[in-house]
Amino acid sequence: MGDQAFAALTDVIAASRTQNGSFFGYVQGSGEPIAALGDLLASILNQNITAWRSSPAGVTIERTVVRWLSEAVGCRGFVGTLTSGGSAANLMGLAMAREKKTPANENGLYNRSAGIIYASEQVHMAVPKAVAMLGIGRENLHYVPCDDSYRMVPSLLERAIREDEAQGREPIAVVASAGTVNTGSIDPLREIAAIARSHDLWMHVDGAYGALAAIAAPEKFDGLALADSLSLDPHKWLYQPLDCGCLLYRDVGSAQSTFTYTGNYAKQLSSDPVEGFAFFEESIELSRRFRALKVWLSMRYHGLHSFRAAIQQDLDHAERLARAIEDSASLELLGPVELSAVCFRHLLDEDASEETRNRFNLALLKRIVARGRVYLSNAELKGKFCLRACIVNHLTTEADVDAVVREVLDVAPDVASELAM
Ligand SMILES: Cc1ncc(COP(=O)(O)O)c(C=O)c1O
Repeated sequence: MGDQAFAALTDVIAASRTQNGSFFGYVQGSGEPIAALGDLLASILNQNITAWRSSPAGVTIERTVVRWLSEAVGCRGFVGTLTSGGSAANLMGLAMAREKKTPANENGLYNRSAGIIYASEQVHMAVPKAVAMLGIGRENLHYVPCDDSYRMVPSLLERAIREDEAQGREPIAVVASAGTVNTGSIDPLREIAAIARSHDLWMHVDGAYGALAAIAAPEKFDGLALADSLSLDPHKWLYQPLDCGCLLYRDVGSAQSTFTYTGNYAKQLSSDPVEGFAFFEESIELSRRFRALKVWLSMRYHGLHSFRAAIQQDLDHAERLARAIEDSASLELLGPVELSAVCFRHLLDEDASEETRNRFNLALLKRIVARGRVYLSNAELKGKFCLRACIVNHLTTEADVDAVVREVLDVAPDVASELAM
């Protein structure tokens, strides 16, 4: 086909979700052009970030970016690696927890339990997936109830641990969320860390959605630096093009005892801490993309202060949207707005059942997405179907935010008449 192959790219673009200021779905970072340029160069250079030996600049830049990220969120001294995303980072963090508390790398888990892990009811699906893949078993992930703000209740965590201990089970780790996917709620990190310490548990923080907001609002993340491991996603709230996640941890020895298994063909030829450094001794992956280049270029170009301002703007926009929802007699805010996720729904007559409300709001969401003016996604809170706007988008303006309520109110009458409500 030669050059004609390019023609289909217009179709690819046309059938892609537009990345503009009105995209509020999922936790989808907006991407930014300087970083995209870095990504293009990364592909052209085609460096393999296995070890300093295979890519001196690439490895040095990744180690630098990891240090910048840890300092930016108040976790100075943590080290780590970039990953494909939060799911991979959570898997690695929990692999380290399991290997530290119930080592299984050599002899496996045959005929014995890997222990119990705790997380709130609002934990992201990546955690139960990780628990399954690590052979811990989802039955051994114990969910701790949340308060009305969807934050884990520490006293109930303590109680669950004690009950398990009394039954002869072995608690090994707790996963706290620094930004739950539904409502952006931040678990009480300091209190959870104290409980983890007193029971000798590993504390992993899933900050894939929220932790980078500590750049703008550190006061919301009190206790973050008490984690043993922490995942965060530059491809979400640092506006980097996909993909780029990150796992940070305080003890490099735990990463090495979990991930080091080196064939003779990969043995390092130098014992120098720089030249002998190998990411594959601290990570699942061997061949790795040069993810750090985009982050490095983008952070150097814009400066951390620009990211702080953009994150603060997202936080402000979320509050603006929440106020507009509260000011509308036809809408109802369904969750707290701790970070930038806003859950709400359109009201119906008082005598409408929950099932009818859910059906109506689902139809509303589908119609809004089909119209293509604003992109929202969904959540479920206490059985209620929510329209959900999540703002991790440096392109969003106040006008884009104001368009959300307008669009929902515009579309609602048509949907109501279609469903004969
Ligand atoms: C709280 C939380 N954890 C983990 C993840 C998974 O991250 P990724 O999609 O980068 O794998 C997400 C994704 O939205 C998330 O919001």
